[in-house]
Amino acid sequence: MSDDRLIVALDVPNALEGLKLAEKLGDAVSFYKIGLGMLTGGGLALANELKQDFGKRIFLDMKLFDIGATVENAVRGLAQFDLDFLTVHGDPHVVRAAKEGAAGSDTKILAVTILTSLDRDDLDASLIKPGKVADLVVERAARAFEAGADGVIASPREAAMIRALPESQGRLIVTPGVRPAGAALGDQKRIATPAQAVADGVDHIVVGRPIWQAEDPRAAAEAILAEMNSPQAKAPNR
Ligand code: C5P
Repeated sequence: MSDDRLIVALDVPNALEGLKLAEKLGDAVSFYKIGLGMLTGGGLALANELKQDFGKRIFLDMKLFDIGATVENAVRGLAQFDLDFLTVHGDPHVVRAAKEGAAGSDTKILAVTILTSLDRDDLDASLIKPGKVADLVVERAARAFEAGADGVIASPREAAMIRALPESQGRLIVTPGVRPAGAALGDQKRIATPAQAVADGVDHIVVGRPIWQAEDPRAAAEAILAEMNSPQAKAPNR
């Protein structure tokens, strides 16, 4: 079994492309994230195929947000796909409803704190209360844990602070916004390297473009895994 701390985001348009990529990655990768971009391109069918036929773990990134009853029903339906992780927004009423919907399944509910692509200007534009982004992320994580979330999604910049919360014991921290040293940033704004993320107490990192846009995706994934297992990944870095 390969190191399932690396989750590869299959942000390709359809299931066929996703399957081709997963075949290229082979046994180097055992955990995949499927998101909204592939929903109309056979995303759920691909989730099922990767899980049942290839024995992969699946993170369905739906970032659900709605009234509690709707979230509960949506999660109950999705949990039938035997998903490992499913995301909802970290608002406490959403998390509570999602946990109700996931009851009796093995699906873990991960709460989105604040999208890693957002900075303070973006939060101002959305009328989010004043304060540093990192502080708001930690506060939202604490509330999501109190509401029962099995884990949170946060940028690696906030991981160490979330790990320090007593509420985070036994819960997962999953971080996108990870870039191997020297890689293009794309639209990611709050980033860290794989080694830094692991050193800060992250359980899983989610990496997309640096792998699926690489000429050799398998080599790119293996390089990230090597970084995650390097001595820097163990030393406290701040
Ligand atoms: O940037 P990358 O391609 O590695 O993105 C991997 C995942 O990170 C995406 O599937 C998305 O969920 C998330 N992401 C993010 N912030 C962005 C862009 C992507 O959190 N600005």
